[in-house]
Amino acid sequence: MTKHKQISATASWESPSNLAIVKYWGKHGLQEPLNPSISFSLAAAVTRTRVSTRPSDQPGFSFRLNGAEKAGFNEKIATFLERIHSHLPFLQHHFLQIDSCNTFPHSSGIASSASSMSALALCLTQLHLLHSDKEETAMDSVLASTLARMGSGSAARSVYGGWTLWGRYPGKKESSDMYALPLEEAEIDPDFRSLHNSILLIDPGQKAVSSTAGHALMNHHPYREARIEQAQKNTERLLAILKAGEWDDFFELAENEALSLHGLMMSSTPSYTLLHPNSLEAIHRIRRARREHGLTIGFSMDAGPNIHLLYPARENEKIKTWMQEELQPLCADKAILHDQVGTGPRALTSNQALDE
Ligand code: DP6
Repeated sequence: MTKHKQISATASWESPSNLAIVKYWGKHGLQEPLNPSISFSLAAAVTRTRVSTRPSDQPGFSFRLNGAEKAGFNEKIATFLERIHSHLPFLQHHFLQIDSCNTFPHSSGIASSASSMSALALCLTQLHLLHSDKEETAMDSVLASTLARMGSGSAARSVYGGWTLWGRYPGKKESSDMYALPLEEAEIDPDFRSLHNSILLIDPGQKAVSSTAGHALMNHHPYREARIEQAQKNTERLLAILKAGEWDDFFELAENEALSLHGLMMSSTPSYTLLHPNSLEAIHRIRRARREHGLTIGFSMDAGPNIHLLYPARENEKIKTWMQEELQPLCADKAILHDQVGTGPRALTSNQALDE
């Protein structure tokens, strides 16, 4: 086993949330996906995390969110640390102080598990280097993504900026169920490298079903095999669409994936209907604006009622005006969060406050 130093050390990272266009839905083993997924990292919705270690005979951790102890997250973090123990020997002899904050509200309907688990995984990957007695100083993104996956599947994709692919896909030899890969700049048309994503907060309340329980619905789902095949085909198609910069095909695919996800939940046992009447009204208005007014706009959704609008940066102003008139009245508290493709995680210096 690799030797490690018993020292006090600190690592701080900021990491983004992401939005999947081809959805990860269903898993087996230790958070291995049933199908490949493709997402992009967001720019504004990020988690900042600082982890400090001190040598201790009683390894463990304490967690604070926005400066306050949050016992509600302890079980998830404890399970995560258990799962990654064998990868990070220093965990056996150190106590961890973990501090975290999100730039987006917890109730915003944006999944915080992707950004929080990837920020934590990046801190632990750096601490692994600091505690190692080897000379190596470069961050290992494959390790960071592997660790992040074990915290939350979608977090595997958040350790990179831009577009990423997670899950074995025959068209890419390097792809893996264990970790995500960044897609190269040459694989993405400039339009999609600067894609805008505005999130309509239709109903920002608690989710009716956790994503872990949602994934479990796929275990005995009657459409399981057909879903795996659909996601594989959509992965192949999306890679071609991103390269060609085809907006119409992009919207058709993104909407097909989002509505299939909801269709799978509706046809599960037990069944969940997470769409709100205003989610459906927003979908009608978006499709009408595209059909009748030629707006370059489409949508995606995660496992909840909120709608993620997708549109090119060059139409930002025109679309924002339309959005305010047509879609804002459908949102709880008229709230819309504006975001776009981001450049990915960054290391924070020890002087950078977590909430700056
Ligand atoms: C619908 O990554 O949140 O957002 O692995 O159980 O933590 P766990 O699930 P999670 O699932 C995300 C599901 C999704 C689609 C996606 O992001 O690909």
